[in-house]
Amino acid sequence: MSEVAVLQLMGLCVVGTGILILLFLKAVFVRVLGFVIIMLGIFTLIALGVPQMASLPPAVETFDIASVKTPDDLASIGQKIFFSKGQCALCHSIGPSESARCPDLAGIGAKLAPEFIYESLTQPQAYVYLDFRHEGLPQEYPARMPHINKNPIALSEQEIYSVIAFLQKMSGEPISIKVEDVLNIDVGEMKVALLSGHGGN
Ligand code: HEC
Repeated sequence: MSEVAVLQLMGLCVVGTGILILLFLKAVFVRVLGFVIIMLGIFTLIALGVPQMASLPPAVETFDIASVKTPDDLASIGQKIFFSKGQCALCHSIGPSESARCPDLAGIGAKLAPEFIYESLTQPQAYVYLDFRHEGLPQEYPARMPHINKNPIALSEQEIYSVIAFLQKMSGEPISIKVEDVLNIDVGEMKVALLSGHGGN
C-alpha cells in the first residue's frame, strides 16, 4: 500500500471515530469533540486527495566526451550543453526573440573567432558587448553574462569547447575545434587546444 493510501485509511478511521462518538455518546462536550474530529478527518482526506507531485532535483546529465569521434559529435554534445547544463538558452536566443535580454547568438560562430568566444564565456567582463536595439545611446544588457567555467554553471574545459563547436556549426562555419585536442585537454593546459592552428602547441 502506498504512503498516501495508508494516510487516507487513517483519515477515514478518524472520521469514523467521530461519527461513532456522535451516534452513541450524549455528553455535549464529547459530541463537540466528535464533530471537530470529523472535520479534521475530512480536511485531511481532501488534502490527501490533491495530486501529489514530488519535486526532485533535475537529473544530472553526463556527457561522455570519450565517445566523440568527429567535430560534429563535439557540436552535438555542445548543443545539448547549450540547452541544458550550460543554461545559455535561459538568456540567449538563436535568432531574433521578442523577450531577449541578451545578445542574439545567431551567426555568432561566424562573427567571432573561437578565442574571442572562449574569452566571452570565461571572462565575460573583459569585453562587454552593448545593446544597440533600443532608442538612445547603447547600454549594457539588463542581464549579466556569467563566468561559464565557475559556479553555478561550472562547465569543464571540454564542455566549453563543445559549446564553441556547436556555435560554429549552427552558424554554418567549419568547426575549428580539433577533436583530438579536446580529448587531450589537461587542466592547466586549457588554451592549448583553442590556439592550435594559430601557432599554439
Ligand atoms: C544570465 C544570462 C546569461 C547566460 C546564462 C549566458 N549568457 Fe552569454 N551573455 C549574456 C549577456 C548579458 C551578454 C552581453 C554582455 C557581455 O558581452 O558580457 C552575453 C554575451 C555573450 C557572448 C558574446 C556575444 C557577442 O556578440 O560578443 C557570447 C558568445 C555568449 N554570451 C555565449 C553564451 C553561452 C555559450 C552561454 C552558455 C554556456 C551563455 N552565453 C550563457 C548573458 C548570459
